[in-house]
This record gives sequence, C-alpha cells and structure tokens, in this order.
Amino acid sequence: MTEQESLISTRVIKVDPDHPEEGSLREAGRIIREGGLVAFPTETVYGLGGNGLDAGASAKIYAAKGRPSDNPLILHIADPEALTDIVEEIPEAAKLLMERFWPGPLTIIFRKKDCVPYATTGGLDTVAVRMPSHRTAQMLIREAGVPIAAPSANLSGRPSPTTAEHVIRDLSGRIEMIIDSGAVGIGLESTIVDVTGERPVLLRPGYITYEMLEDLLKEVQIDPVITETKPDPNLKPKAPGMKYRHYAPKGDLVIVKGPMDAVIRAINEACEKDRAAGYTTGVLASSEAAASYHADVVSDCGSRENLEEIAHNLFAVLRDFDEQGVEKIYAECFDGEALGMAVMNRLRKAAGYHMMTVE
Ligand code: TXA
Ligand code: MG
Repeated sequence: MTEQESLISTRVIKVDPDHPEEGSLREAGRIIREGGLVAFPTETVYGLGGNGLDAGASAKIYAAKGRPSDNPLILHIADPEALTDIVEEIPEAAKLLMERFWPGPLTIIFRKKDCVPYATTGGLDTVAVRMPSHRTAQMLIREAGVPIAAPSANLSGRPSPTTAEHVIRDLSGRIEMIIDSGAVGIGLESTIVDVTGERPVLLRPGYITYEMLEDLLKEVQIDPVITETKPDPNLKPKAPGMKYRHYAPKGDLVIVKGPMDAVIRAINEACEKDRAAGYTTGVLASSEAAASYHADVVSDCGSRENLEEIAHNLFAVLRDFDEQGVEKIYAECFDGEALGMAVMNRLRKAAGYHMMTVE
C-alpha cells in the first residue's frame, strides 16, 4: 500500500465457530458479492476472501497482502456441485480425493473454465479449489453466492494467521471486515494436489499427508521443492507460491539438527554468544526440552510425540518471537515423516533454509 492510499475502516465481527448464527454473515456475504474483502476463519488458517470470479476483487487481494500477482489464489466452495461451474473436467483421481477428504484441508488443482479470470489464477490455465469444513467459512461462501478466492490472511512473507488477532495486526485498515471465530484447529495451510497431469503430484504438504494420499491414489509424485534442504535455483516449484520466502519471523532463524543433548548444548552456547553481543535470543523448543534452554524467550511449541500440536502452534510461536523483539532464534528440528513433512517444509522456509547439524 502506498502512502497516498488511505486506510479504510475495518469492522471486526465475532461469530461462534460451532453454531454460526443464521444471518450473522449476511453483511459479510454482501461485501464479497460487491467486490470488497473479508477475512474469515477456515480449519487450516485464516483466509483473505474476495469474489473469485471478479478480476477487480482479486487485484484488491494482491494489493492488501502486498503479494506478487503471479502467485495464484485458491477458490473456496461450499458444495461439490459448485465445482462444475468453474472447472473443465473432474479427473478420476479428483473424484476419489473429494469423496475422501472434502470438506477438509485439501486443495485440488483443475483445468479452469473461462469464467475464472486469469487475475485469480496468476495467468495459469489451471485453478486451485478447496471446500473447507469450517462452519463459518461454509456459511460465508453460501451467503456470498460466489466462489471465494482466498490466500492466507497475512501480509506477504509473514507467518500465516491462526487467530483473528494475527489478521487484525496484518490487515487492519486494508480490508472491509474480519470475522473472528477464535483460533483455527489445524494451523498449517491445506495440502495441495495437482491432478491435471498423468499422475497426481503433491505440491504442498499439509494435514492430509503424503502417506494418506498414497494410500488412496497409489503412485503420488512429490514436487521436489517440498523436501529440499537447500534452495536449488534450477528447481521451479509447480505451486508458484512455494518459491517465495515465507512464514519468516523478523529475527534470524536457524534450525539445529542432531541428538537432543547435543542440540540443547549447541543452542545454549549460541544463545550465550548472541546475548553477549547484545542480541535478544529465542528458542523454538519441544515440550520435552523447553526447560533445558537458557534464552530470553523459550517458546514451547508442543510435544515431539504430538506433531498435530507442533503444527497447531508453529505460526503463532513464530509471530510471538516478532512481538517480543527476538533477533536470534534457534529451532529444534522435527521428524519429517507424515505431518512432520508439512511442519519441516514451513520451518525450513521460515529459516531461509538455514540449518546447523551438531553431533
Ligand atoms: O489452507 C489454505 O489453503 C489457506 C486457506 C485460507 O484456505 N489458503 C492458502 O492460500 O494457503 P495461499 O494463497 O497462501 O496459498 C496458495 C498456494 C500458493 O502456493 C499458490 O502458488 C498455490 O496455492 N496455487 C494456487 N493456484 C495454483 C495453481 N493453479 N497451480 C499451482 N499452484 C497453485
Ligand atoms: Mg500464504
């Protein structure tokens, strides 16, 4: 947003996530239908919604986030029937995925119909579609009466928002309304699968794991950028958004990998040096090890035995380091299997792929 552009007043409304009251989202739906922007909760993260069939609304989304416009948006629908209006064909693999995982945290890439503007798809002939399970999201989509284009409701580059407070901090003054239904359940963005090619390809890992997809579809490919530990300039991600530095806290973040006692020792040594140099230090810790660290801020992200807890807390913990002015952050490394693939994918990107191995 340039300085000339004036801030708009953002209304925040509270909606019960389990029993959203009939009619409570009528005004929000009207804003979207008329080309305005409303941030809303989903089961994964908060989204920044606009009419996905309106090129002008998509342009506003990019402007509000400060996001490059070649990074396509996801269309959110409330009923599977709405899919036929926006996609050319529904491949067999997609039918299986929809039956098993919709509504839920899974986004599927289809060939788009002409009614979906290139402004929404970042110029691509394909479109990403998801049917969220969050009741507030479903009710909003029905009230709007159009597919809602929604990226995560954060300023570009910042961790995705998992509470309405995160959204207020990033987007207040830039959008018409924010719907507050409390903290989201999952905490990481949806899994993305492309079914437009010969074989399904996993483009972004999430709560629906690679193992779950393989179990259903067999032979699922993984876009190599997902698991890379160093950015390879020759690899071009198939989900354009995966190339941007993402989720990053303002402080320098380093992931420390190795046996737990060596990790604790290395992190404590690094923090001691940093503090001596005048930096504020922070540790992203597991519950098992949190008490062993000596840093200005030690954030317990959850038990190593419970990756759902780590996923749920990850973005809030990263944002909290910013709030507390932490300049040097050290993070434990987590197991990369199942949900750990998504956790480590986000953590590596947040760290700008900065990893230290200790023995
Ligand atoms: O959980 C989620 O998916 C959240 C909530 C709000 O639904 N949304 C979200 O949107 O994470 P966003 O914009 O932050 O991420 C969308 C990702 C980007 O990496 C983008 O490049 C990819 O989806 N994407 C969108 N359309 C695509 C397409 N046609 N082909 C390949 N990738 C696509
Ligand atoms: Mg995002």
